[in-house]
Amino acid sequence: TYVVTENCIGCKYTDCVEVCPVDCFYEGENTLVIHPDECIDCGVCEPECPADAIRPDTEPGMDQWVEFNRKYSEMWPVIVTKKDPLPEAADRDGEEGKMEKYFS
Ligand code: SF4
Ligand code: F3S
Repeated sequence: TYVVTENCIGCKYTDCVEVCPVDCFYEGENTLVIHPDECIDCGVCEPECPADAIRPDTEPGMDQWVEFNRKYSEMWPVIVTKKDPLPEAADRDGEEGKMEKYFS
């Protein structure tokens, strides 16, 4: 599966949702997530993210992100249409510690 990771938080560019053939992106206030059981591993969303936030779960350290994506994809509504990024997306892009800042 592919997962959305920390750099989406506070940016939410949403380019990713337009290309997903199975519509498995879900939207929270500050970030999106992918439903790990619905993702068919096609990989087309990865290069679409301007924040480089979408990673394959085969990369090291991805277990916590699979868990995060699974948890919230079951709580949040599906998103299939691109919308404006969050207003401070450019400032938040690359910022450290966004997970702690937004999810604790
Ligand atoms: Fe959707 Fe493919 Fe991205 Fe999985 S890898 S979230 S199926 S576009
Ligand atoms: Fe987030 Fe990148 Fe999609 S910032 S909303 S994963 S395009």
